[in-house]
Amino acid sequence: MKRFSGRTALISGGLGDIGRAIAIELATHGADVALCGLRPASEAEPFLIELRALGQRVTYDAVDVADADAVQVWVERVEAALGAPTLIIPNAAQVTQSDFQRLTPQQWNRELRVNLDGAFHMAQSAALRLLEHRKPGRIVFIGSWAGHRVHSDIPAYCVAKAGLRMLCQCMALEFAPHGILVNEVAPGIVDAGLSCKIMSGNAELRESVRQMTPVKKLIVSQDVARAVTFLCDPENLQMAGSVIVQDGGLSLLAPRPCTR
Ligand SMILES: NC(=O)c1ccc[n+]([C@@H]2O[C@H](COP(=O)([O-])OP(=O)(O)OC[C@H]3O[C@@H](n4cnc5c(N)ncnc54)[C@H](O)[C@@H]3O)[C@@H](O)[C@H]2O)c1
Repeated sequence: MKRFSGRTALISGGLGDIGRAIAIELATHGADVALCGLRPASEAEPFLIELRALGQRVTYDAVDVADADAVQVWVERVEAALGAPTLIIPNAAQVTQSDFQRLTPQQWNRELRVNLDGAFHMAQSAALRLLEHRKPGRIVFIGSWAGHRVHSDIPAYCVAKAGLRMLCQCMALEFAPHGILVNEVAPGIVDAGLSCKIMSGNAELRESVRQMTPVKKLIVSQDVARAVTFLCDPENLQMAGSVIVQDGGLSLLAPRPCTR
């Protein structure tokens, strides 16, 4: 019997780099997996085939998490197909590289609608189903170290991820008595996905990030997926409102004044 046998996992942004790693990890441990993302279903098929080869049932729906109604319909559709999701991973996000002087109200709005509202829509819709069924579950938000460290080039992203942290803690307090444990994984600079797009084609930048990171190694998607698995583990019953910061020590660094 695998660790997550009989469970259904719900993962937004499931075709992104970290979303895929989480899907593979949870499916490997026996969970059926429902993914959503912005891409059309036809583009998901090769990855769904890979996941099904792990022996699990898998679905994909094109859903914009900023649309509360669409998220609710998705959650209900997944429940009908695979059973009520008990492992809920709001992972979808975007990043706008712009300082405040150039950021448009539309960009600000969209970033918060996707990264913060989208996570809320998904967590709330799924939690309401669990409450109705009187089932325990896990919600693991994929946050970021940018939720607690200022990055002047991506301020809207930082604000959304800071909001996500408080969303996690408020939900954790309300839902813990119902056996729904809510936590967050906050990666640093991952050698994948959103950061990779920024570092791509710039080997020098990538190497300087590695050198700057206290553990001298870049985080990979599988590291994030393993932290999600740890928080979802049925044996892990004490963590609620916790944040696993996975940044290789980056957020411990402070700028040092020049002493010579
Ligand atoms: N890559 C990093 O360095 C890093 C660092 C810290 C945190 N994170 C977080 O990890 C998570 C995954 O990011 P990633 O790096 O794999 O990026 P990614 O771009 O590979 O994946 C993000 C996925 O979300 C989807 N998405 C975007 N907007 C959406 C919407 N409105 N509705 C549904 N799906 C949507 C995208 O299509 C994409 O598939 C995000 O929450 C991100 O903030 C990433």
